[in-house]
Parts: sequence; C-alpha cells; structure tokens
Amino acid sequence: MIFSPGALNQLGQAVKSIGGSRVLLVTDPGLEHAGHPQRATEVLREAGLDVSTFDDVKENPTEREVNAGVVAAHTHRIDCIVAIGGGSSMDCAKGINFILTNGGRMADYKGHGKATKPMLPSVGVPTTTGTGSEAQSYALITDEKTHLKMACGDKKAAFRVSILDPELTLSQPKSVTAATGIDAIAHAIESFVCTKRNAMSATCAMSAFRHLEPNFETVLRSPRDLTARSAMQIGSHLAGMAIENAMLGVCHSCANPLTAHYGVTHGIAIGVMLPHVIRFNAPIVGHLYGELVADRGLSNGQPAAEVLATRVAQLAAAAGLPQSLKECGVSDTILQLLAEEANQQWTARFNPRPVTEADILRLYQAAW
Ligand SMILES: [Fe+2]
Repeated sequence: MIFSPGALNQLGQAVKSIGGSRVLLVTDPGLEHAGHPQRATEVLREAGLDVSTFDDVKENPTEREVNAGVVAAHTHRIDCIVAIGGGSSMDCAKGINFILTNGGRMADYKGHGKATKPMLPSVGVPTTTGTGSEAQSYALITDEKTHLKMACGDKKAAFRVSILDPELTLSQPKSVTAATGIDAIAHAIESFVCTKRNAMSATCAMSAFRHLEPNFETVLRSPRDLTARSAMQIGSHLAGMAIENAMLGVCHSCANPLTAHYGVTHGIAIGVMLPHVIRFNAPIVGHLYGELVADRGLSNGQPAAEVLATRVAQLAAAAGLPQSLKECGVSDTILQLLAEEANQQWTARFNPRPVTEADILRLYQAAW
C-alpha cells in the first residue's frame, strides 16, 4: 500500500514492480471530468507502458460489463490491470481478472478460492473514500436476473498494490463524499461486531472508526481539507481490511434490496438502516459498541448502543442524507418482499445477533 498526496505519480513504477507492461485501465466514464483516468494514462505512458482504457463500468457492475472488459483485455493482449475509480471500477476490474484468466461465468466464483489458475497482477487506485474494495480480494458483481450481489473472492484477485492518493478524493462531489463516508463508517462498525471478528479485524475496524468518525463532518464542511481527506481515505482502507479479515452484518443485507428495487445509493441505504441495526444488536454486542464509543470519547452515561446509533444518525443528517425509508421513496407495501430478499443476502449470516426474516421486516418497519 502506497499512501501519500500525489502518489498517483508512482503508478508506473508500481505496475513495473509487479511485472506489467501492457495495461488495461478500468474506470468509469463519470471520472473523466475530474481528469483522473487521463492522468493515470499519462503516468503509465511516461513509464514506457502500453495502456488501453476500458471505461464502460456502471454503478453496481454486472456480468455484462465484466464480459465487455474481458473482450477489451483480449483485444489488447494485456498482462496487467489497473483500476482507478470507486468500488464499482475496482469490483469490475477484479471480475474481469477472474473471467479473463480462469474462464466461465462470475457465478462460478461465488464464495472464496474457486479460481484454480493464476490471475493477472493488478493495481487499485481508489478515488472515493468508502468501499475499501482496494483492500479486499472480493469482487461484488450484481446478478442481472436476481439483483443479488455475488461476492466472488480469491486471494489472487486482490490488488498487489493499492495506491492511496488523497488528492484524488478532493474532486468527489458532496453527495459521493456523504454516501461513501457513511458506508465506510458502517464497514468499521459492522465488521467490529460480526461473528467472524478476530484480533486482526478488530484492530483494523477500531482504527478505521478512529480515523473516520472525527473527520467525516470536516470533509463535508471543508472538502479541500487534505488532512481530513487523508484520514477518511486511510480509515476506509482500514475498514476494507477489517472486512477482508472478518465480514459485515445485517445492515449490508438490508441495503442491497433497496438498491435493487429503488435504486437507492448503497451508502444512503446503509445510513438509514445502520442506527436501527445497532439498536437491534445491542443486547449481544453492546459492550463492543461501548469500546468504540469510549475510544472516541463519546460516552455520555446512556447505553453505548444508543450513543452510537444517535451519533450515526447525526452524521447522516449532517451529510444531508435521508433519515427514513419513506424519505427514500420506498413504499411500505414492499417491506415484506425486501425482508425476504435481505434474509438471503449472505452478510446476514454473520450478524452478531441471529436474524430471521421477521426480524429484518421489523428493522425495515423501524427505518420506514
Ligand atoms: Fe458498504
């Protein structure tokens, strides 16, 4: 992991250090106005590398985009992949790597460690501060028919190098800063308490929360504050490492059907659901929430889960995000269907308090 303002300039060296010479640059067209893909291309060409760009990545990428990327990769006979962008670009790049090197369909790689052949070396360059995808070996690819997110993981799919350049995050629109910031905070909180937590994930999650919680309001107020942007970027990377070493919880299960049915942005859905999930989990992991609250000096005599839930709601409000599902345009007649779908999302299985479909319905009703 390379962190420093201006670190994008080291992209060429990073690619050479992992043996790349013909690069597929995976990005989304929305980034072009910020100039990041163009700068990445320049840096790579200055280092004497051959670059072709695949910029057809959409939000929540599906197999269709992955396959289009594979065609581009074949055409240009690439030997290395660089992803520059948000989680969608990084997930799509990993998906392309799976199919290009191991063949078949994305569904073949659902779960972990299903790729038997070597994969191409790759570099991740995040331009948002939220997903932490650059720290993970999972590609989240949406199944076009079921709208379910397939988590396809393999250690070989992980980026060999992550370049964290906080200057790239200065151009995030406020709406992206808001939604991805709350998502990163949720990654820290959910991974800190999930059933697969361990010493490594807990250390990463705690440190992530320590970076994110005090800096989120600062980057909303002062988007050019490079110190706060740096903290948010390191925090979201650490939260990504925490997920890689543990898992998430039912908040992420609840968010995915909202995105599938109503197109609610992932981080917005997360921000609405998280306070309710924290209150639901309180009887089992209230003491762990207490550790996060005490570490940040937020204790005020109230139960820790309540303090944390209130703080998350306050941060979401400061970001101008909706406070209820109703505000997101969700109809209360669909909550039962959403609960059925959320219950099938695999992250629900790792929630510290076991959840049933009825529990999830109650979470949605509370959030509505
Ligand atoms: Fe997330």
